Amino acid sequence: APRVRIHHLQQAKRDGKRFAMLTAYEQYSAEIFDQAGIEVLLVGDSASNNVFGNETSLPVTVDELLPLCRAVARSAKRALVVADLPFGSYEVSAQQGVETGVRFLKEGLAHAVKIEGGKYYAETVRAMVQAGVPVMAHIGFTPQSEHALGGYRVQGRGDDAQRLIDDAVALAEAGAFAVLMEMVPADTAAAVDAAVSVPTVGIGAGNATTGQVLVWQDMAGLRGGRMAKFVKQYADLRTTLSDAAKEYGDEVRSGQFPGPEHSF
Ligand code: KIV
Ligand code: NA
Repeated sequence: APRVRIHHLQQAKRDGKRFAMLTAYEQYSAEIFDQAGIEVLLVGDSASNNVFGNETSLPVTVDELLPLCRAVARSAKRALVVADLPFGSYEVSAQQGVETGVRFLKEGLAHAVKIEGGKYYAETVRAMVQAGVPVMAHIGFTPQSEHALGGYRVQGRGDDAQRLIDDAVALAEAGAFAVLMEMVPADTAAAVDAAVSVPTVGIGAGNATTGQVLVWQDMAGLRGGRMAKFVKQYADLRTTLSDAAKEYGDEVRSGQFPGPEHSF
């Protein structure tokens, strides 16, 4: 199948079709999701708390994310590969956004990048797009601003809906090729989707967006602990892997593995 391009996602919105997006951080997950037909792979800054063992997405750096991005881009033959710009790598100025975005396309081999923030980032988005760096905008709950937003809270409720519509319109007008919304009431997300001609992507944003995204370790049940309401687990990889590791350990300790069939 030919490479998924931004214009395919935009055509999906015009045709009333949907597309799927998952995070990926390394070779096998990228290869598997790509071959499963997932249209967009996100090298999320959620690698911070899903790969690097941090509590939040804030500590991860450009230098940590770039090699993961390269691995995903090399492994995905069809999917569009989008990379998150980590906290602190684009907020200072439009110029900083351009410089970091270029690094993710040049060194990370990404096809596009994603930045968090509302209409105040319109100028940054415009500069990045003019430099040849396609940008997906991320609005609503933006995890990099967790402390400023006072924790994980639904955004765009009631009177606050208009703020998200204004953000999305300004960012799309500045050239963002898509708008992702996180933890937004379904009716607000539907209103945002209706207000822009670019595709929207939701996570905890109801069912009216063009696309949906989940962190893959949540989707596949690899991560333990409490899941957000918006997560649906499609597998239980944690149990599968744990059982495999226990059985291997038992067989090694009992002398059952390796057997003659695994020996030279
Ligand atoms: O980093 C991430 O995983 C994200 C989400 C939108 C899935 O940005
Ligand atoms: Na992210």
